[in-house]
Amino acid sequence: RRLLLSRAFAAATADVLNRAGARVTVATVAFAPAGDEGLLVEAAYGVKLVADARVADLEGEAFDLIALPGGMPGSTNLRECKVLEKMVKMHAEKGELYGAICAAPAVTLAHWGMLKGLKATCYPSFMEKFTAEVIPVNSRVVVDRNVVTSQGPGTAIEFALALVEQLYDKEKMEEVAGPLYVRPQHGAEYTSEELNSVEWKCSGTPQVLVPVANGSEEIEALNLIDVLRRAGANVTVASVEDTLQIVTRRHKFNLIADMMLDEAAKMEFDLIVMPGGLSGAQKFASTDKLVDLLKKQAGSGKPYGAICASPAHVLEPHGLLKGKKATAFPPMAHLLTDQSLCENRVVIDGNLITSRAPGTATEFALAIVEKLFGREKAVSIAKEFVFM
Ligand SMILES: *[C@@H]1O[C@H](CO)[C@@H](O)[C@H](O)[C@H]1NC(C)=O
Ligand SMILES: *[C@@H]1O[C@H](CO)[C@@H](O)[C@H](O)[C@H]1NC(C)=O
Repeated sequence: RRLLLSRAFAAATADVLNRAGARVTVATVAFAPAGDEGLLVEAAYGVKLVADARVADLEGEAFDLIALPGGMPGSTNLRECKVLEKMVKMHAEKGELYGAICAAPAVTLAHWGMLKGLKATCYPSFMEKFTAEVIPVNSRVVVDRNVVTSQGPGTAIEFALALVEQLYDKEKMEEVAGPLYVRPQHGAEYTSEELNSVEWKCSGTPQVLVPVANGSEEIEALNLIDVLRRAGANVTVASVEDTLQIVTRRHKFNLIADMMLDEAAKMEFDLIVMPGGLSGAQKFASTDKLVDLLKKQAGSGKPYGAICASPAHVLEPHGLLKGKKATAFPPMAHLLTDQSLCENRVVIDGNLITSRAPGTATEFALAIVEKLFGREKAVSIAKEFVFM
């Protein structure tokens, strides 16, 4: 199936749809010059991603799904794009599937008159912007005929799974949802298992290093970067490859790092935390400079962490889980020496934090925010995200 997604908040949606086997095109509405430069999309909180195409160049092409991610002013930019409006309208006339999340259902779709007589939802504070012809429903995901709408970044995986179910079937949706390890109860409070509790000390703004490699899992990397930056941490995204631009696991989103690891290695960090993705984790494990940084961090009692493939493929083989309780991507949990707490979604043992999978990535990032800034901050971000 061919799908068109517009703009960058689409990361989670694109990742999940790719897992279903769909061919996803991520397009930007920006009128930018030709060449790679023009495809650079600055998403929320300075996250830099590279799109696959420009909407303007896709006019006349047919897709099985067109999904619009939200965010502001992103949704306004989508609304103002005439080519996109024409494409979505023609697509809808053919009875094809379309969807929007966050502010986009109200700001974009309803504004184009494309939710007429339909039940729909959007980011809670934008519900009042729905025109009278929309039937507002306060629910995390709403499917009505060929339109799927959803509430915010914290419902993006649920939105994507609903799209998979509409495009394929329930069986396919469950097949995709399984290895994500999504929350058993969406919207529930997040929890983590903590033992040997210590304060994670920082002098001033927490300085956080997020290494990235080709093959890093994008939902995990982007959750860490976005959530921690929202909380007020100074996040440095460092490439362990020989280019700033890296290719994430699903080969759809190219992420641009802030600097090369060589440069970051000269700095001090309050926390070093790694996303998963098997080949990304293997690259981390074979990058001596990163392993040295992690050993120094752990040795001096400073916080470090990893999610998904990285606990088992980076921390364990380098002795960084010695005497610690941790969790990991379930199919890799057998690689941990101590598996006694690995059934938990997030485990904190003193200065170490670990987690399981893309579906636990937001909880992982929120647990880090809680350690650095307190529970109140973490809960306020969880609500802002419509995560809980
Ligand atoms: C944030 O980190 C960058 C390095 O990525 C550093 O140059 C800058 O001084 C830091 N800013 C603050 C406010 O800590
Ligand atoms: C990593 O991806 C970049 C593309 O952004 C590519 O230029 C580079 O060669 C890749 N590195 C490896 C080791 O495959």
